Amino acid sequence: MMLDPLSQLCKQNVNEILEIGCGAGALALWVSQFGQRVTAIDINHRALAITELNSKINDIPNIVTIASDVYSDVDGSFDLIFSNTPYKFLPEECCDQMYAYGGYLAQDILEKIFLGLEERLNDDGVLWLLCSSYIKNNRNTLVEYVKEIFKDKPFAITLKQIDYQPLTEYREFYRQEEISHFIRYWVKVKKAPGYKLEHIQIPGIQRMVESLKIKLPS
Ligand SMILES: C[S@@+](CC[C@H](N)C(=O)[O-])C[C@H]1O[C@@H](n2cnc3c(N)ncnc32)[C@H](O)[C@@H]1O
Repeated sequence: MMLDPLSQLCKQNVNEILEIGCGAGALALWVSQFGQRVTAIDINHRALAITELNSKINDIPNIVTIASDVYSDVDGSFDLIFSNTPYKFLPEECCDQMYAYGGYLAQDILEKIFLGLEERLNDDGVLWLLCSSYIKNNRNTLVEYVKEIFKDKPFAITLKQIDYQPLTEYREFYRQEEISHFIRYWVKVKKAPGYKLEHIQIPGIQRMVESLKIKLPS
């Protein structure tokens, strides 16, 4: 799901690559063939240790690992920044599941990534994310959020739907939050002369949601 779009982006000139939330490092290892250096960061020290081990076993010299909360301990700017973000909005008691938990509406990490972009993305650089939009009272919360953050800022943003995800766990929590389902998205952001937003929807998803008459979990 991530390799294809990432390989398209890597056809451009990418020297400095930043992966936010590298986990065990599979993606960092893979993109290392395209860039001069990959800075692989994670908030979880154990994840970084595994990425380091994997780089060593595979004899990959151009991956640097840093413990960092998004950009907090990272210097410099990048040609490609990417992340398979922690995409789940979960009840409070699950917030120690850092692998998946992305805060309120899975937007906490997005805010940090987006707000640092002006400084961290090189002029011809690209940000590419895999993330989710929780549908709350029929409102697409990711689209609303992106509009709010980038409104009037010089960035071109593409939001592309990938698939629809039903909510199978924590039904009472989602019912209280008035969330019916979520949709996974690719997000691509580039610097541009002015603000531009493209929202690519898959008609099949909307048809399926309508035909299933998806309601709030009960
Ligand atoms: C969905 S996993 C992706 C792991 C790996 N890149 C992959 O695609 O398999 C999200 C990763 O983000 C990390 N993470 C969560 N919050 C973070 C933060 N604030 N800053 C940096 N990394 C974070 C988690 O520890 C986890 O490794």
